[in-house]
Amino acid sequence: MGTPQRRRSNLDYASGQLMTEFGLRHLLTIRELDRLHIEQILSTAEDFLPVLERPIKQVPSLRHITVLHLFYESSTRTRISFELAARRLSAQVVNFSVAGSSVAKGESLLDTARNIQAMKVDLVVIRHHSSGAAHFLSQHLHAGIINAGDGVNEHPTQALLDAFTLRRSFAKLEGLKIALIGDILHSRVARSNIYCLTRLGAQVCVCGPPSLIPVHIEALGAKVTYDVVEALRWCDVAYVLRIQLERQHVGYFPSLQEYADWYGVHEQAIKQAGRRVPIMHPGPVNRGVELTAELADSSQSLILQQVTYGVAVRMAVLYLLAQQVQA
Ligand code: NCD
Repeated sequence: MGTPQRRRSNLDYASGQLMTEFGLRHLLTIRELDRLHIEQILSTAEDFLPVLERPIKQVPSLRHITVLHLFYESSTRTRISFELAARRLSAQVVNFSVAGSSVAKGESLLDTARNIQAMKVDLVVIRHHSSGAAHFLSQHLHAGIINAGDGVNEHPTQALLDAFTLRRSFAKLEGLKIALIGDILHSRVARSNIYCLTRLGAQVCVCGPPSLIPVHIEALGAKVTYDVVEALRWCDVAYVLRIQLERQHVGYFPSLQEYADWYGVHEQAIKQAGRRVPIMHPGPVNRGVELTAELADSSQSLILQQVTYGVAVRMAVLYLLAQQVQA
């Protein structure tokens, strides 16, 4: 790991504007994003990062833009991160959560969308339990749509902030080996990360019990192992994923204790692998299941850096898409 490189920000602080053109209106998946767009988001995030380190953490970039956060699923980090990102850019923010809304009275996503349209919102950040919900909204709204996690499909801004974290920690992503360890089957983070990392030239290996590895995952460019120690021995970074119990409708493994012993990342596995690699996790961490508390809090953990960088990356996404919405 190297020290994060500092480069001069191209941001004009007085106006909050950058000289950059993006060309996309929505961020729905990483699968459909080419390398140039990914690089552009990451370099724009570099431009916004210094804003977060200033005493006044706000620029007037999106003063005239209204962002709606539409969260149909629970979220702590992603929701706060998006909200902070929008506020740091001086956007007007409206929050919607299912509890207390007309969804509880039976309103469909399409009806909700039509009402949003009528209220003339510029950008919509949506998290939904159904794969494809963000895509559906993009077909029915003029607003720019940002997918903040749709079912088991994708979580593009998570993968972008992970790539940003890796880029700031390592000299280059080209050839870097990342092991995704955990519940790959139910993880939208795993899918978005496989697309993003391979597109940036990194190597990806997925690891977990066979019942939690999707068949044909190799077709996405990831290699597979069922042995955590082997994965830890191979990788430069261990990216640990939560067991998504809320998405599991049958028993995929005998018990959480057995999972923790055989597939969890703990001191014994690290010792057996003989390598102390940096650890990442999208949160929330189930301490003692997929990752021990000691490792989550250790100096090899990049977990809180991911959270910090997430705000800068989401500022970049909001800023770049807002240009298109106004165009
Ligand atoms: C992830 C998600 O919701 O997909 N979390 C997040 O966005 N920070 C992963 C998870 O819930 O395990």
